[in-house]
Amino acid sequence: MTHSDRLVDGFGRVHSDLRISVTDRCNLRCTYCMPAEVVFRDREELLTYEEIARVAAVAARLGVRTIRLTGGEPLVRRGLAGLVRRLVAVAGIAEVALTTNGLLLAEQAADLRRAGLARLNVSLDALHDEAFERIARRQGLDRVLAGLDAARRAGFSDIRINAVSVRGLTEGEIVPLAVFCRREGLHLRFIEFMPLDADAAWEAPQVLSGREVREILAREVGPLVPATTADSGQPASDFTWADGGGRVGFIDSVTSPFCDRCDRLRLTADGQFRNCLFSTTEWDARGVLRSGGTDEELAALLRGCVAAKRQAHGIGTPEFERPARSMYQIGG
Ligand code: 5AD
Ligand code: SF4
Repeated sequence: MTHSDRLVDGFGRVHSDLRISVTDRCNLRCTYCMPAEVVFRDREELLTYEEIARVAAVAARLGVRTIRLTGGEPLVRRGLAGLVRRLVAVAGIAEVALTTNGLLLAEQAADLRRAGLARLNVSLDALHDEAFERIARRQGLDRVLAGLDAARRAGFSDIRINAVSVRGLTEGEIVPLAVFCRREGLHLRFIEFMPLDADAAWEAPQVLSGREVREILAREVGPLVPATTADSGQPASDFTWADGGGRVGFIDSVTSPFCDRCDRLRLTADGQFRNCLFSTTEWDARGVLRSGGTDEELAALLRGCVAAKRQAHGIGTPEFERPARSMYQIGG
């Protein structure tokens, strides 16, 4: 493949990561993501697994190498391990990963592993039932913890825990999460709250920055030092505990955006390509798929999507425009 066959945008960024949302449904209602009352898409609007696999094959021919399955909550869609198996078999795809809230992992971890799933990110913001429910509007902590156990027994290693930081909501859980993840050998990452909540209640002062979280950890758990082996493909800046062992990452998506290194594209559950979480335009892959379009037409659509990518999300600038869809409709 020559450079010109690849998905390069107007700023020279090469795109090799495709995030595929398989459903907008979820068994939690996290306040920073979903509304309390939600109307989901009809089943027919969602891409079938066949359609998803076809898009993945076209993307792989254009240089996409890693796929991450997201939602909503991907494990609520039936037969997800079957999709993993199909995607792992796509020529050119080196890795299929999954972001999940963990509630259904205990039941599915072994199947997912057998299907060839390479990596797992588990979203977990709290270790106390009361805080979990305040954030997620539903119960489920026990199931997430059981899911983590099952995932490790199934052979997943290097599991990442994603915790969103929201001022006034999550502060009390920062230290417990850090202590727990350190003890359990889990790679914890704190993500800054982005304006993608369905209630559109996001305000800049609610962003609890990675820097503030780091200060809390340094004060209450122990000193952190920048990790030497940075993973260049990752948006997180990683730290390790000064007294050895354990990695903590900070995804400072608001205060220190990683847009200049972004290699990500997205496919929503209803079959729309997006070039950014904050895209205000979408490219209709489902329309191409369902009107008898060719692979070349799909490829052209994806190229157009990449070509239109903006330099940065611009949160905090006067030009920033909140996308019409929120996190559960886009995929994390
Ligand atoms: N800001 C930051 N992260 C978010 N997530 C969901 N909504 C938001 C938001 N508004 C996270 C979830 C999950 C990942 C897919 O995105 O916690 O870990
Ligand atoms: Fe569900 Fe994830 Fe959104 Fe929480 S953040 S409501 S777990 S999709």
